[in-house]
Amino acid sequence: MIALPDFPWDSLASYKSTAEAHPDGIADLSVGTPVDSVPEVVRRALADAADSPGYPLTYGTARLREAAAGWLARRHGVTADPAGVLPTIGSKELVAWLPTLLGVGSGDKVIFPSLAYPTYDVGARLAGAEPFPTDGLLSLGPERVPLVWVNSPSNPTGKVLPAEHLAKVVAWARERGAIVASDECYIELGWEKRPVSILHPDVSGGSHEGLLAVHSLSKRSNLAGYRAAFVAGDPALVKRLLEVRKHAGMIVPEPVQAAMTAALDDDAHADEQRERYSARRTALRTALESAGWRVDHSEAGLYLWATDGTGCWDQVARLAKLGILVAPGSFYGTAGESHVRVAITATDERIAAAVARLTTE
Ligand SMILES: Cc1ncc(COP(=O)(O)O)c(C=O)c1O
Repeated sequence: MIALPDFPWDSLASYKSTAEAHPDGIADLSVGTPVDSVPEVVRRALADAADSPGYPLTYGTARLREAAAGWLARRHGVTADPAGVLPTIGSKELVAWLPTLLGVGSGDKVIFPSLAYPTYDVGARLAGAEPFPTDGLLSLGPERVPLVWVNSPSNPTGKVLPAEHLAKVVAWARERGAIVASDECYIELGWEKRPVSILHPDVSGGSHEGLLAVHSLSKRSNLAGYRAAFVAGDPALVKRLLEVRKHAGMIVPEPVQAAMTAALDDDAHADEQRERYSARRTALRTALESAGWRVDHSEAGLYLWATDGTGCWDQVARLAKLGILVAPGSFYGTAGESHVRVAITATDERIAAAVARLTTE
């Protein structure tokens, strides 16, 4: 049996009950799930591709891979080879299976940030490798490691890593033959800083060798329910992933591939969605700060990384009494024990409810 971590969300249940008991109902800011509609242009593409009786291509249609490369060029200044693009069944699936797909295993360390989305750890364990959270690559000395994850903008902190920092990670990894996988699912949601892709020439030096960028349409295009993501980068690595995925049946359904293509071709809906999140973020941030909370990092992404100076569970309890549910920072690593993660993904009406309660606490 593989030792997987406990699923931490169960431990929030009693706080959820407290929040639900609020006379005006719960404002659930604990998870980053989209609540706004799937854009019309995307729904239409899905419906138009509904008659898809045959097996879809694991590699994705040529149109989809071109649309992904086009989006990377247009929005992120990245010149990617469409041959180095591969759709995945949401990005969580790839995060959980990448070490296994790459042949990482027993005796190997998988490196990821000390405060991080829990699935990097899960992916290392599923492969039989050692999860190794650290923010200091230099502490590893000359040891060879096969895979390093970076995540900018970060979940949970919203921190953005500058190009110079990412370039140092790439240089470090290339010296040791390590692959860098960069989880960029919040890249279009920069507020105070502009996130940069690992594939950008300022970071990669113009070569994508050894690099994989992981992108998701869940947040950009409200497609969490479609399971729509892709990986892009080193074509040789992508080919290795494709070989295993073909054998393992890890295939994105054809109508979802069509929907992804439409979403990647269209920026108007993504800009509109960004504006919604921006307004919600400003309202919540102002309310938290006026209630005495400090917001750290949070330069990008869908979360405010907040603290009132006490322990994270006391903070969860304080907010649950106001009918607001948030995630304790300890879910993301011990370094998160004095913060909570406040998602900005609720409806305008629920955000306004949370703001009113914080302001009159
Ligand atoms: C950092 C990070 N990576 C990956 C994911 C997975 O997203 P999806 O599987 O919807 O693409 C999430 C979801 O919240 C996330 O926060």
